[in-house]
Amino acid sequence: VNYPTPPSFLRAVTLDASDPLAEYRGRFVLPDNVIYLDGNSLGALPVGVAERMQQVITQEWGVGLIRSWNSADWYPAPIRVGSQISKLIGADSDEVVVCDSTSVNLFKVLTSALRLAQSVSTQRNILIAERDNFPTNTYTASSVAELLGVELVLIDSIDVAALDSAIHAAGERLAVVSLTQVNYKSGARYDMAATTDLAHSVGALMVWDLCHSAGAFPVLLNDCDVDFAVGCSYKYLNGGPGAPAFLFVAKRHQKAMRNPLQGWHGHVAPFAFTSEFVPHVGIDRMLTGTASQLGLLALEAALHAFDDVDMNDVRSKSMSLIDLFIELVDEELAGYGFGVLTPRESDQRGSQVALTHEHGYPITQALIACGVIGDFRAPNVLRFGFAPLYLSHVDIHRAVMQLKEIMESGEWDDPKFHARGAVT
Ligand SMILES: Cc1ncc(COP(=O)(O)O)c(C=O)c1O
Repeated sequence: VNYPTPPSFLRAVTLDASDPLAEYRGRFVLPDNVIYLDGNSLGALPVGVAERMQQVITQEWGVGLIRSWNSADWYPAPIRVGSQISKLIGADSDEVVVCDSTSVNLFKVLTSALRLAQSVSTQRNILIAERDNFPTNTYTASSVAELLGVELVLIDSIDVAALDSAIHAAGERLAVVSLTQVNYKSGARYDMAATTDLAHSVGALMVWDLCHSAGAFPVLLNDCDVDFAVGCSYKYLNGGPGAPAFLFVAKRHQKAMRNPLQGWHGHVAPFAFTSEFVPHVGIDRMLTGTASQLGLLALEAALHAFDDVDMNDVRSKSMSLIDLFIELVDEELAGYGFGVLTPRESDQRGSQVALTHEHGYPITQALIACGVIGDFRAPNVLRFGFAPLYLSHVDIHRAVMQLKEIMESGEWDDPKFHARGAVT
């Protein structure tokens, strides 16, 4: 039987034909028969990383041994890789360093920012954060607030009216506002410039988490006058599982910043081995201990996937992929019980879409079994990430059609798809 090709498929083909990023798919190693919609959780493997790791392990480690800290330039890698990331987030090359995890960096940045605000005025003793942010952010904010004896005010994520009133209610008592630009579940996005201005309007400092922003769309930290930022590198930056995180401090604050986790790599002269801590003059002062060198070098190689990429093209393609996805969900999945949690206005979202469904978990598992990989976030969210460097409009079309097939056949309800793994 020859079924007619749906017009939406032909449209996907046409959109791919004029895609300026189409050739970048070749910069990634992806298995055949997989449509990877989870780059918002763990990015795909870029070409060249495996070869670079082979060289690092067998030559630099195996042969060079400890000499490689100098001869293979391992030692400056946190700053060197920070400089690569700075280009993607609108920062200067000496404002970003790569180290530790996002959680640890958030702890360092929040503590330093609160101390900085209090050094200007002891009255500033309020920290605003989000109740329904990724949990580590809320846990970290509450532990920092407890340690420093400041009041933690929690607002609902992306509720701009609630944020505005919390900021104005705190007024001159507000020290720091700490938000994640794109919410991990809904995919809704803050306006970075307007929100940073709002925090600054009462004299507070602004901290952004860019986990779901970096590599997904243009981020303009310095144009927005942001004070501090953190983010991970294993999502849209494709650094690999558990890749080290990054940390940004605007140059104007670097001299006054104190790292609450002082360690020898933040010292101005680590190999002087003195007992008195003298911080490094620049962003290096935010380092603590020895870098996770293998992860750092894998990330450095992975970031070459972004060489010559115009982040405005990345944003345009992300919007186009998502518009097509939502349109197809509306058309093809009507009547199957799905909701769209992500804002439909493209300027109000990041590069992921969250669908809701009461059977979200088994549906996600059934979809993964068919090679369409997304993930699930309790209690009922199916998340799909759109990494524009390696996805096509045809991929999106196929993914939605696969989802429709699973719903039509009832395949999702097979008991094997209900069993929960440790990671969802
Ligand atoms: C907003 C946000 N912050 C932090 C993290 C993770 O922090 P870490 O890298 O310390 O595991 C995530 C992970 O998905 C996240 O979405």
